[in-house]
Amino acid sequence: MKTIIEPFRIKSVEPIRFTTREEREKILTDAGFNSFLIHADDVLIDLLTDSGTSAMSAKQWAGIMEGDESYAGSRSFYRFESIVKSITGHEFIIPTHQGRAAEKILFSIVGGEGKFIPNNTHFDTTRANVEFSGAEAVDLLCDVGKKPEVRADFKGNMNVDKLEDFIKKTRRENIPLVMMTITNNSGGGQPVSMQNIKDVKSVCDKYELPFFMDACRFAENAYFIKLREPGYSEKSIPEICREMFSYTDGATMSAKKDALVNIGGFLSINNDDLATKCRNLLIVTEGFPTYGGLAGRDLEAVAQGLEEVMDEHYLEYRIRSTAYLGEKMLVNGIPIIEPPGGHAIYIDAKRFLPHIPQNLFPGQSIVCELYLQGGIRAVEIGSVMFGKYDKKTGEPISPDMELVRLAIPRRVYTQSHIDYVAEVLIDVYKNRNNLRGYKFTYEAPMLRHFTARFEQL
Ligand code: F0G
Repeated sequence: MKTIIEPFRIKSVEPIRFTTREEREKILTDAGFNSFLIHADDVLIDLLTDSGTSAMSAKQWAGIMEGDESYAGSRSFYRFESIVKSITGHEFIIPTHQGRAAEKILFSIVGGEGKFIPNNTHFDTTRANVEFSGAEAVDLLCDVGKKPEVRADFKGNMNVDKLEDFIKKTRRENIPLVMMTITNNSGGGQPVSMQNIKDVKSVCDKYELPFFMDACRFAENAYFIKLREPGYSEKSIPEICREMFSYTDGATMSAKKDALVNIGGFLSINNDDLATKCRNLLIVTEGFPTYGGLAGRDLEAVAQGLEEVMDEHYLEYRIRSTAYLGEKMLVNGIPIIEPPGGHAIYIDAKRFLPHIPQNLFPGQSIVCELYLQGGIRAVEIGSVMFGKYDKKTGEPISPDMELVRLAIPRRVYTQSHIDYVAEVLIDVYKNRNNLRGYKFTYEAPMLRHFTARFEQL
């Protein structure tokens, strides 16, 4: 087989800035050893997130000029609505400025005290919006999804038995809807199988519960189904996407991922009454229903991006290039969540730095070292992001996994950028015994990872 190449050529470039090790030491110290507080200009390769960081195509930029900025009834809205309907099959399409705005609207209406929302794994903004409404967010990931070193095809699947038990125990009237995140970002960018989507749908039907999808990375999920699930290899990506959504009653979407744009999102719904309530709230918080917090040009770019993302050459390159980085790491003994996910590689920091206990933030230590050695920006997803304190004793409580995410922006970096990232990672791994832990010098009461400051021990 020949090398899978980038299915595009480059028409416009953006220089990246090289810094010296000495400069990076000062930059990192000034940033309190927090990668969120580093200026982007001081980063050489930015793997902080795949969200809003895609390179747009010539056609998307052309769409930006074509955008219809009419307040009401914009042509760009109708193009956007038509493509979203054709993918999701949902009837009512509500544009929002990004994914969490769709979540905020949905859960403001269906959430509230005494309610529970099951999901395979809630992404942090989804959890925050569920909890902000007073409801409880419940994760029911399959067991294999919690084992970083075990390879399985669909580690994002929901545990369907646990879902049914949960519904029986909690009673259906306390569960406004069941949610499923594809791919499962917080669990390593792992896909969900069509069979699992169908099984969750049957449980939802049995208890007459609506089923919603957090669809940020729907095309990547569809490509994994095509590659791995029996019966789908001959199906086209649009067919697989339509089938996935056909089992659902609605979706929230951050267009900043699989719509290949820098801003945008939507909420899509089949239920007329719920859609009317969501639209009314949208008018108060986002904008008129035919733009919902976006400019007409943004809607054009989303519409175009949604068509491009389902191209099989694109998806082959996308999934292959993420796996390529993962394989280079595995060959060199670097522990990661296996197999590589769709949008990111997740380093298992517990196994990478067994000498640093969880309360001294091994993930943060890797993040800092990657920046110091190579100007690479990653993000900790472990005790810094999800750690809590015991309410009685004040002792720190750590999450199950200590991860460092290397998220790959779409269509941005070439194979040699990724080779460079792997080389730096290998050096950091060789030097791992010299890495040290960190402690907070400042932490905010909520979402502390964004603003925290640290010192090295
Ligand atoms: N759901 C999932 C699964 C996500 O990954 C994100 C964002 C959102 C919802 C919220 O969308 O950012 O448009 O409001 N994930 C980004 C990340 C921030 O870096 O993984 P948003």
